[in-house]
This record gives sequence, C-alpha cells and structure tokens, in this order.
Amino acid sequence: MRTVLTEVRSVTGRDTLYTFACPEIARKARPGQFVELKLTDGCEPFLRRPISIFDTDGAHTFSLLVRTAGRGTSAMRGWTPGAEADVLGPLGNGFSWGADAQNCVLAAGGIGLAPLAFLAKKLLEEGKRVQLLFSPRRDAGLLDALPFRARLAVSCAENRAAFPDALDALLEQGADALFSCGPEDLLEEAAKRAEARRVPCQLSVERRMACGFGICLGCAVAIRTEQGVTYKKVCRDGPVFRGGEVAFHEEP
Ligand SMILES: Cc1cc2nc3c(=O)[nH]c(=O)nc-3n(C[C@H](O)[C@H](O)[C@H](O)COP(=O)(O)OP(=O)(O)OC[C@H]3O[C@@H](n4cnc5c(N)ncnc54)[C@H](O)[C@@H]3O)c2cc1C
Ligand code: FES
Repeated sequence: MRTVLTEVRSVTGRDTLYTFACPEIARKARPGQFVELKLTDGCEPFLRRPISIFDTDGAHTFSLLVRTAGRGTSAMRGWTPGAEADVLGPLGNGFSWGADAQNCVLAAGGIGLAPLAFLAKKLLEEGKRVQLLFSPRRDAGLLDALPFRARLAVSCAENRAAFPDALDALLEQGADALFSCGPEDLLEEAAKRAEARRVPCQLSVERRMACGFGICLGCAVAIRTEQGVTYKKVCRDGPVFRGGEVAFHEEP
C-alpha cells in the first residue's frame, strides 16, 4: 500500500516518530498490530521490516516510533515529509481486553513502549486506570513521544534489576490485566510475576521476520499447548500471546 509521510519528529538521538497518511491503516489498526515497511527502493535490505503501530487518528494517519537498529532503520533516517512509503498492514493479532479489565498495568522495556502506547490510549479512552512501568535502560526521553503522557501514571524502573520489584508493587495494588512488550528477559519476568499473582497477562513477542503474513516460517516462537510445546508464527498467530503460553526455554 502506498502511503505518504506527513511528519518526522526526532524523539531521542536514536528514536524517531514518523506519521503517514493512509486511511486504510488508520481506520483498521488495533493496538499490538504492526506493519511491514519497505525501507529502500533498491534491493538492500531486501526484506521488509516489522514495526508496531504506535498511534492512529482513527481516520487518516498512523504513526510509528522507530529505533535506529541497523541497515533498514538507518535508511529511514533520511526520510522527509512528502516521501512515499510502501507499507503492508495492519498485520498480526493485537492485544485484547474486556470490560473486567479496569486496572491495567503496562510494562515496557525500551522501544517495547511503541505498541503499548497505542494500547494505553485506547484503554484511557474507555475510562480504564492505566499504569505504565517503563524500563528505559538509557532512553527515558522516549516517554516524550507519548501524546497523552499527562493522563498516564508512569513509573520508571531505573535499571533492569529494579524491574521485577517495581512490577510486583504495581500488581499488588490490584491489577486486572498486565500487558508487556520489550526484551525477552523482561517478558519472561512479566509472565512469571503475573502468574504468581494470577493476573491475566499478554506479551507482545518479537522475532526477526521475512514475509510478515505466515508464509516463510521465519518467525517461529515456542508456545505451550495442551498437546505440548509447538511452534507458532509470531507474524500470524501473534505478535501478542498469553503470558503462560510462551515457552521461553523449551522447544518442541
Ligand atoms: C512485531 C514486531 C514489532 C516491532 N516494532 C518495532 C517498533 O515499533 N519500533 C522499532 O524501532 N522496532 C520494532 N521492531 C524491531 C524492528 O523490526 C527491528 O529493529 C528492525 O527490523 C531492524 O531492522 P534493521 O534493518 O534496521 O536492522 P538489521 O540490520 O536487520 O539488524 C540490526 C540489529 O537488530 C537486530 N534485530 C533485527 N530485527 C530484530 C527483531 N525483530 N527483534 C530483535 N532484534 C532484531 C539484529 O539482530 C541486529 O543486531 C519490531 C519487531 C517486531 C517483530
Ligand atoms: S515472517 Fe514469514 S511466517 Fe512469519
């Protein structure tokens, strides 16, 4: 799908917010879904890159918060408003929640903040209480990207070692749901803490991707089922999975 870049805003030295005009994606996207971006007109990098939907206005535009990681995301740094971009999406299954989830805790590690920002916005719109625990490593400035930050209770875990206790403290206050995205060790810790307190938990899992829609089998993640551990596709079956489903150290 052709989209037009309408705004580029630098958030930290390595994180940039890009807004695109594309009514189809803006209308359809749900929190936790992602797009596959073609990053150059040439062959290098050949594969599209998956990026979570950070926000939409629900009608015309959507935005992505992108951390410069390597070849593809570095190429994006040259993009300026008016440029056209080839975007596939929205893809994957996003977060889900019901009326019973009134007190929601969102636990983000680094750029894992991106899909949780869109989720936080939707939950706040529904009048839910939302507490964000952010483990920034070194980029606390990423929080400046949140358009509704003033309406959100935010706490920061100074370092990864402080994350488990900080999360426990929030869950202890009577959370109904935990949503998390970030590095694998943080996701595993989030799943463990949620299970111990019997709080329903959803994790947004990342894998390197190729096709983005279930054909190449490049994004396998080990998932526990009643029949045992099996592989599922992060792009098609996820990227959001229930906390207890993800088999962090097991293989089929
Ligand atoms: C569902 C999903 C949603 C994502 N959402 C975002 C987002 O909102 N914002 C954002 O900045 N990034 C996001 N990512 C990560 C992003 O896709 C990668 O950073 C990007 O593909 C790197 O491409 P590159 O060409 O710049 O780097 P490459 O040159 O391909 O790689 C650079 C480095 O990044 C590592 N890397 C590449 N892809 C991944 C990955 N998927 N997970 C972990 N490490 C990786 C490589 O191992 C290497 O060390 C998401 C990934 C997935 C799977
Ligand atoms: S990226 Fe191709 S199957 Fe998931």
